[in-house]
Amino acid sequence: MSRLRSLHDQANSFGWISIALHWISTIAVILLWFIGQSIAQQSAEEIDARRTLHITIGLVAWLPIVGRILWRFMSPHPHVNGQTLLTHRVAVFTHYAMLAVLGAMIASGPVMAWAIPDRTAAAQIALAVHSTAARLLLVLVILHILAALKHLMFHDDETIARIFMPRKEDNNS
Ligand code: HEM
Ligand code: HEM
Repeated sequence: MSRLRSLHDQANSFGWISIALHWISTIAVILLWFIGQSIAQQSAEEIDARRTLHITIGLVAWLPIVGRILWRFMSPHPHVNGQTLLTHRVAVFTHYAMLAVLGAMIASGPVMAWAIPDRTAAAQIALAVHSTAARLLLVLVILHILAALKHLMFHDDETIARIFMPRKEDNNS
């Protein structure tokens, strides 16, 4: 029972499913961001290969990222470990904003990938959404990492630990 519980999020603890999805999608998103950013800088011979690499990783990452977004709605967000009501709200808002931006990226990416040869209006809109979302995501992720580091350096709490491991004791509070 407690093993099953540790799969799910609890009021004060992330479960293994959220933890695994967080780190799998973090690695994929960082890779995709750097590869995506580098596509336009390639020579004419290299550009197709680099784009194909980005699309391939994007398609593999699609499932864990969609899983991540769905899981956040199926399993309510644990209470955040903030110090004030304002920091609680900023943290939760940033988490949902990152998930919304990721949703926009994984929706617009395939539209572009399928429409690239003909450069349709849909592809143009998808490119605008994808590249704006990529910039927004960068800002949000930097804020998110700075906030995590602030907890690590200045607050003696479990914020960092709990995105690596569920709490041992059962926790329904
Ligand atoms: C969250 C995951 C993703 C991130 C962080 C990401 C990031 C990026 C970035 C930074 C660019 C460059 C945008 C620009 O030039 O302004 C890009 C372009 C692109 N991405 Fe993604 N991407 C993601 C997911 C996907 C997926 C799932 C697909 C398709 C399966 C995809 C397909 C493309 C395509 C086709 C381009 C345009 C390449 C070109 O310039 O012709 N992306 N992506
Ligand atoms: C692409 C990069 C990242 C994205 C998109 C991202 C997104 C998120 C989201 C949406 C949550 C809320 C929980 C959930 O939905 O599962 C979260 C939680 C968390 N993330 Fe990240 N994350 C990223 C990278 C990182 C990195 C590199 C760190 C470590 C420095 C980190 C540390 C944390 C921590 C400590 C929490 C738990 C916060 C809490 O207790 O409320 N994240 N992340």
